[in-house]
Amino acid sequence: MSSLRLDRASVSLGDPPVAVLHDIDLAAESGEILALLGASGSGKTTLLRSINRLVPLTTGRIEVAGRNTAEIEPVALRLSIGYVLQGAALFPHWTVAENIGTVPRLLGWAEERTSGRIDEVLDLVRLDPAEFRDRFPGSLSGGQQQRVGVARALIAKPSLVLMDEPFGALDPLTREGLQADFLALQQELGFTAVVVTHDISEALLLADRIAILSHGRLVQIGTPAEISKTPANAEIEELLTTPRRQAETWRELLGS
Ligand SMILES: Nc1ncnc2c1ncn2[C@@H]1O[C@H](COP(=O)(O)OP(=O)(O)OP(=O)(O)O)[C@@H](O)[C@H]1O
Ligand SMILES: [Mg+2]
Repeated sequence: MSSLRLDRASVSLGDPPVAVLHDIDLAAESGEILALLGASGSGKTTLLRSINRLVPLTTGRIEVAGRNTAEIEPVALRLSIGYVLQGAALFPHWTVAENIGTVPRLLGWAEERTSGRIDEVLDLVRLDPAEFRDRFPGSLSGGQQQRVGVARALIAKPSLVLMDEPFGALDPLTREGLQADFLALQQELGFTAVVVTHDISEALLLADRIAILSHGRLVQIGTPAEISKTPANAEIEELLTTPRRQAETWRELLGS
């Protein structure tokens, strides 16, 4: 059974409504990392938001773990799916622990259980609970904030995690560290992840399969090897030249 399935899903937004996503067919298998790649404005965030019913479908359907999301109460659905928001988006006046405890609070967990689990997920994202629990987001580095965003998404052990540019806007070293930690974490916990990125190198590095969106349409889906070998159009071919060019430059610089 697919962990996530979109079946001809379309979304229109605004007044008057403008079509933002067109007939998206997409499935992610259990435990798969699916990268959602596309230029700014191509509809990546809208697609994630449609999965947990933050935006309604105009046509089509979406299934999570085999259940039609239209038949799941929206709040219950959102609480069952991990969501890492674009730009970490932590509540600035809440401590790290309060931020991470958002979902347990809404689920009505006992305080002790929440507190213990907050320490566990902080350990998972490699932030020392003793040091970070009571800090406020403003006192954290960008990378640390992203780690808190990931911890918040994982606290209730979701089997599906949606991540909106979780490693965006970071220096390359921090980004690499976070990517490697994420891969190890996903392997350990085995959740299905949909990871939005506009960076093809990141998609190639992280994903089992890559889905490419352009102007609200799914233009190609395949493994990194399939996409590198047979890009579906000239735009994707062009996109692929970036990592190749970078690799070439490195080889020249290092004289190897
Ligand atoms: N509430 C809304 N009303 C009208 N149009 C919207 C609304 N939300 C998004 N859009 C439009 O839908 C399109 C897709 O937006 P979306 O935020 O999904 O893009 P994205 O791929 O996530 O871009 P980015 O990489 O910049 O985050 C854009 O043209 C955007 O202007
Ligand atoms: Mg976006």
